[in-house]
Amino acid sequence: MIKKNIMFILGTSREGRLSEHVARFVFSCAKERDDFTPLFVDVRDYVQTSTEGLEEEKLTALRKMITEAAGFVIISPEYNHGYPGELKMFLDNAYKEYEGKPFAICGVSDGPVGGARMAENLKPVLSAFQAIIINAAVYFASVKELFDEAGNIKEPEMWKRKVSGMLDQVIKYTNHI
Ligand SMILES: Cc1cc2nc3c(=O)[nH]c(=O)nc-3n(C[C@H](O)[C@H](O)[C@H](O)COP(=O)(O)O)c2cc1C
Repeated sequence: MIKKNIMFILGTSREGRLSEHVARFVFSCAKERDDFTPLFVDVRDYVQTSTEGLEEEKLTALRKMITEAAGFVIISPEYNHGYPGELKMFLDNAYKEYEGKPFAICGVSDGPVGGARMAENLKPVLSAFQAIIINAAVYFASVKELFDEAGNIKEPEMWKRKVSGMLDQVIKYTNHI
């Protein structure tokens, strides 16, 4: 059976971003599974100075990748209660390619609510794509405390369980398309 692609999107290009640790952890959980093929995409590789500003070749390749993805997991920090601008510009490179596909959100913040406000603000954008929003979000609050000095997440089993539940939901809804 051909495995479906699930795209994991790291949603900030900020220098020194802690969300990268979270995204790498979430992606490592995905790689332990064999029920889909995980793809890692970093918005840093697609930073644009204006909307629809990607060069043609890169845009075509990105749209193909998005078309071939059956579902998405966005790992993003909360910036002033919203999502990073570069994440929005990245997502705006496609539209119909997202229709009917599940999106899960992992929020990251050094505050107590783990990017929940970012996630709520992102949902209307995903609705505009006619995507399916997975309710099982994972919120990585107090991110500065979450990883040890070697960059490993503390309490890995607890976090793996949360991520695994979210990924189960993503896979479940890819079966609707
Ligand atoms: C421009 C900016 C705005 C931020 N706004 C919030 C916020 O609204 N709520 C919050 O909990 N943390 C906020 N933070 C702190 C982030 O939670 C913190 O940087 C965390 O490490 C996750 O973001 P990072 O991946 O960029 O490191 C903000 C950080 C920046 C740079």
